[in-house]
Amino acid sequence: MVLTKIAELDLNESVPDQVAKSSIRSIIIIGKDFGTTFSGVAYTWSTKGDKVQVITSWDTDNYSSSNEEKTPSALSFLGEGQVNWGYSVPKDADQLKWFKLLLLDEEDLPEDVKASSRILEARAYLRSHNRTPIEAIAVYLRCLWNHCIQRITESVSKTLVNYSKFHVVMTLPAIWPDYARSRMREAANIAGILGPRAAGETELTFLSEPEAAAIATFADMEGRQDIKAGDTFVVVDCGGGGLCGAVFVDEAFVNMLKDKMQPKKWDMLSAETRQRLIHDEWEHGIKQRFDTKSNKTWSFNLPWECLAPEERLTVTSLPKVTFTSKEIQGAFNPVIYKINRLIHRQALAVMKKHNVYPKYVILVGGFGRCKYLFERVKTMKNHLLSEDIEVLQARGADPWTAICRGAVFHASASTGIGGSSIKIGARISRASYGTSYFTDWDPLKHQEGDKFWSDIEQRWCAKRQMDWFLLEGEDISTKKPIKKQFFRIFSPDEKCTALRETIYLTTISPPPDRVESTVKLLCSINWDMVVDILSLPTRTNSLGNVYHVMSFEIEMTCSGSSIDFAVIYNGKRQGSKNVAVEYSTR
Ligand SMILES: Nc1ncnc2c1ncn2[C@@H]1O[C@H](COP(=O)(O)OP(=O)(O)OP(=O)(O)O)[C@@H](O)[C@H]1O
Ligand SMILES: [Mg+2]
Repeated sequence: MVLTKIAELDLNESVPDQVAKSSIRSIIIIGKDFGTTFSGVAYTWSTKGDKVQVITSWDTDNYSSSNEEKTPSALSFLGEGQVNWGYSVPKDADQLKWFKLLLLDEEDLPEDVKASSRILEARAYLRSHNRTPIEAIAVYLRCLWNHCIQRITESVSKTLVNYSKFHVVMTLPAIWPDYARSRMREAANIAGILGPRAAGETELTFLSEPEAAAIATFADMEGRQDIKAGDTFVVVDCGGGGLCGAVFVDEAFVNMLKDKMQPKKWDMLSAETRQRLIHDEWEHGIKQRFDTKSNKTWSFNLPWECLAPEERLTVTSLPKVTFTSKEIQGAFNPVIYKINRLIHRQALAVMKKHNVYPKYVILVGGFGRCKYLFERVKTMKNHLLSEDIEVLQARGADPWTAICRGAVFHASASTGIGGSSIKIGARISRASYGTSYFTDWDPLKHQEGDKFWSDIEQRWCAKRQMDWFLLEGEDISTKKPIKKQFFRIFSPDEKCTALRETIYLTTISPPPDRVESTVKLLCSINWDMVVDILSLPTRTNSLGNVYHVMSFEIEMTCSGSSIDFAVIYNGKRQGSKNVAVEYSTR
């Protein structure tokens, strides 16, 4: 059995002086797609920006799986710091799956996922091993990281790895709340991904999964004559656990199988036999081969184990189970309806904005390779949308690895090392973001409850007023950070060692003028600093008393998946050691 010791990789080897001082530093970009059911990693390095490699050669006893492009997001704690992970987890082992989703607070999970037996099993597994979701994710990420660094080292050489700075891009679902990103960063940190390196500090950025999928898809389509400026596409990431999750199809099939076998016979199978049966007959059998054309029946043999000892003496062949095409369709349909509804909505949104339907609907993700899904999306668009839309489904591993490859393309394009010409021109904000402030009280404009007396300034003010710096639906360019000026007032005898500013968000459009129930906390920015109050500029109130005014800026940079914040004081960006961004969970 392949065991993995949870150990830290030493990547802090010294770099010769002339390399350390050189301004031209080598960089290795690593894209990590930690998925609900499978995870994939791709990479490239400075001189090979257009050549993205996908990690394979997983450690496993099962040789047929070792060269797959992704590895299961599965973990089994064995005690004494040892684990099995990915393909090395035996089929019958008590194991942790679906733990990516545990990064979210329960109330943020979709209703059907919240109630799913898989989530309950994952929570129970963590409880029994006394681990938090972040800790378990950190262990998995460490195993994945160590494996990838070993494979990259074997492929590009130890010297290049040692001399290269790392830029790691992790992908996250687009609709996840912002706190998930800081939790994933924490897990990456515990996993040792951000450990000190002589070649330079490792950079970790995040990218939304659909954006990564779209970038990889366009890179795969680059150079095609049929694509021209202004064409629009809908890229659909059909994975294992998300909104378009194939595991719901799996669950429906297993329930059907149990019914057909009668529960008693199902119970006679060992966990390993059940897993093998589902893996061979469903995962790698019917699920992949099923299509709309087949109006046949689907049968497979059941193992001997489901026969009672006396039955074994009398029967001459293995028992069989048979499904009609209609039954199999029944397992697929609820998820396919969801996917079709989503595509329909997106295509109508494109039509509304550009007055034309998207040219292509492109299916990616593991389930995006499903034949039956492909046929059903084509039928739906013919009925509900337009025959001119073409549905594309690439063959092979490309659609399955789109997310991790897209993460690498994105970082290599923004670092300027890549050969890919894909650039994101505009990104649309999903919410409005803002800060609250107080201002002169105006009885015609402000609510009575917001009125307060500012002793230091000797004036009536209105608090909880909102200033929205980024509106929902606005284009957010990656290159143009938004700066916002903040003021704080102090009496001369006050001390100031820390400041806290709050960022709010709302999905209500237009956003309200004041902090009300639809305005949610996004995060607080905590800035540790020591400022000599008496050195700050002064103002004088109506009583002739002097007070001090401090001004600083908060800079917001919209990156691939969320917003990054920095504090600027006296024209200087404050170090990340002094500024902490704490995301609100609700
Ligand atoms: N050829 C295929 N036909 C049908 N289903 C497939 C095929 N190949 C992979 N799948 C299914 O795709 C799913 C895995 O896809 P993927 O790796 O994109 O998901 P994930 O990234 O783990 O999930 P998520 O993106 O939701 O977090 C599995 O349910 C697998 O059975
Ligand atoms: Mg995925």
